[in-house]
Amino acid sequence: MSDYKIPCLVPDLPDPVVLQPLLAEVHAKRWYTNFGPLSRRFEAEMASFLSEGQNLNLSVGAFSSATAALELVLRAMELPKGSRVLIPALTFPATALAVINAGLEPVLADVDAENWCLTPEIALNAHNHASVDVVLPVAAFGRPLELEAWQLFQAEIGVPVIFDAAAALGQQQASSDLTMVFSLHATKPFGVGEGGLVVTSDEELLAKAQSLSNFGFRGSAGVVQAIGSNAKFGEYYAAVGLAQLARWQDVQARRQRVLEWYQTHLERIKAVSLQKGVDAFVPAVMSIFVAGHSETLMQRFTEASIQTRRWYTPLLHRHVALKNITAASGDTNDLVVANRLEKGLIGLPFHAFLTEDDIAEVCSVLKEAGL
Ligand SMILES: Cc1ncc(COP(=O)(O)O)c(C=O)c1O
Repeated sequence: MSDYKIPCLVPDLPDPVVLQPLLAEVHAKRWYTNFGPLSRRFEAEMASFLSEGQNLNLSVGAFSSATAALELVLRAMELPKGSRVLIPALTFPATALAVINAGLEPVLADVDAENWCLTPEIALNAHNHASVDVVLPVAAFGRPLELEAWQLFQAEIGVPVIFDAAAALGQQQASSDLTMVFSLHATKPFGVGEGGLVVTSDEELLAKAQSLSNFGFRGSAGVVQAIGSNAKFGEYYAAVGLAQLARWQDVQARRQRVLEWYQTHLERIKAVSLQKGVDAFVPAVMSIFVAGHSETLMQRFTEASIQTRRWYTPLLHRHVALKNITAASGDTNDLVVANRLEKGLIGLPFHAFLTEDDIAEVCSVLKEAGL
């Protein structure tokens, strides 16, 4: 538990009492991993949840994490080694790590000044400058990506698009045309503990990725057909996943309420910018942008015992082990928006246990700083 009076993120997972019958089911069958019945049920229920109200023919596969799921989907695409994958400079490092671990080359793009995501327009410019083989846009801070625009990009430009929608489960609309990856990490809105989902209508791609998550075994002969790994989803996590799905509407409603309080209290603080569209979805984290103030502001929050974070900073190419990643233009100074955001993004507390008084207290720090 955090030492702060107001912690930044608090996982919101099902009560163990609710898990009891599901765990008993696992134990009775003595089937704990390797695509067991609860994992299969969870995958099927997530496919219905994500298709709700739409005529989508989705397959869902569960993995040990979104990072592993991204890597294995990229491997399952069987691209030539070193193929170029366009990713935004502003993202969690896992996006780049998955690309590199799949034997591919990440190439950085800038993000949009208003929605803080890689957009089809930015991707097209980058691709026209120096062609890329895959585009991997990120649902930054849980903001859903524009489905139609990306479907059009994929169809017209002919470059496959995979969504890293790690933080956007429950917000990002699924599609029959685009493969997406979601995270089930404990701190994500749809928290399970650890885990990742691949959501696709490409059954063969998913079957290959799942075979890679099981050492590369395919079929019953126990023969390794491709160089795989162990990235399977266990039955205990599937139990948590099923219980989390059953309470998702409640989790979502409580998070929505917290968002509305923030909107009310931040409204009059003009120096604070929010990610565009944040009234149309509930973000995973509450990242605000305050030009040039982040270090001193964070200090003020710490003094008030309010925990803040700087999600997605530093930018990817400033991480020691990622310093050789290049920008699509060849110059990381061209990542103008990402470079500007990097200096002023602050993640405020955002979780389902916050009260309106907490939000007022967080916002009073911003007001007292004269913003
Ligand atoms: C954009 C993005 N991609 C990938 C991941 C990795 O997810 P996981 O922790 O499930 O591997 C995260 C996790 O925070 C993320 O924010």
